[in-house]
Amino acid sequence: MSKLIFANWKMNPATEEEALTLAKESDQEGLVICPPFVFLEKIAAIINNSRLGAQDLALEKSTGPYTGEVSAKELKSVGVDYVIIGHSERRYPSVGEGESDEIVARKFKAAVQVGLVPILCVGETQEEKDNNQQRSVLKREIGFVFESLKSVARVYIAYEPVWAISSQAHSQADKPEDVVGAVKYIKKLIKEINKDFLEHAHFIYGGSVTAKNADKFLQYKEIEGALVGHASLNAEEIKKIVQTAANY
Ligand code: PGA
Repeated sequence: MSKLIFANWKMNPATEEEALTLAKESDQEGLVICPPFVFLEKIAAIINNSRLGAQDLALEKSTGPYTGEVSAKELKSVGVDYVIIGHSERRYPSVGEGESDEIVARKFKAAVQVGLVPILCVGETQEEKDNNQQRSVLKREIGFVFESLKSVARVYIAYEPVWAISSQAHSQADKPEDVVGAVKYIKKLIKEINKDFLEHAHFIYGGSVTAKNADKFLQYKEIEGALVGHASLNAEEIKKIVQTAANY
């Protein structure tokens, strides 16, 4: 399977007009555009080559009395194929309470049940890194999601250390060799839970990926794509990253 680039626009851009322009200019095979909910349907109507992803979903997979939530089924009905789950900005938001491992696991299940492809984000914070807790964090985050699962279809796991995300103070991208090490460790964890899951799992990296450094990551066979935030808001830059991925 060829490598995939996921554009995580986060809460950008500010208007529908800008969102449609960015989507049109970024539209390319090998790219999954993940815009804010409100732009999904209109973007679905204008892209020809990219696929569409959401940035989150509700715990409940279909309908119900959940004000402000959007379900897996609703997302699917407007042309969404992928969904980001457990992004660190939802696990540790700047406002309010974050999503627990239990919530992340339930959302993952809701996505799988409806046939959305989940992109599960895992990775340690700066403090956890400083305390040598990377492996225990990954073990906990992967365990919560996979231990209670009966079966999965295609899933993506994004190793995205929180300290490497471009919006963090003093952030810098992880070292590609260290990402490969983390991916191998995550694979081992999943294999121990159920080796059949591994056949369906793909592994990508996220955290300060740019057109300049993308090749350093994507050249490794273990890194099957990237989750790109800030750099995905520039159509020229995200296109270069997608072209880099297409070389492998
Ligand atoms: P970044 O964000 O590329 O701006 O570091 C990645 C992400 O948060 O998904």
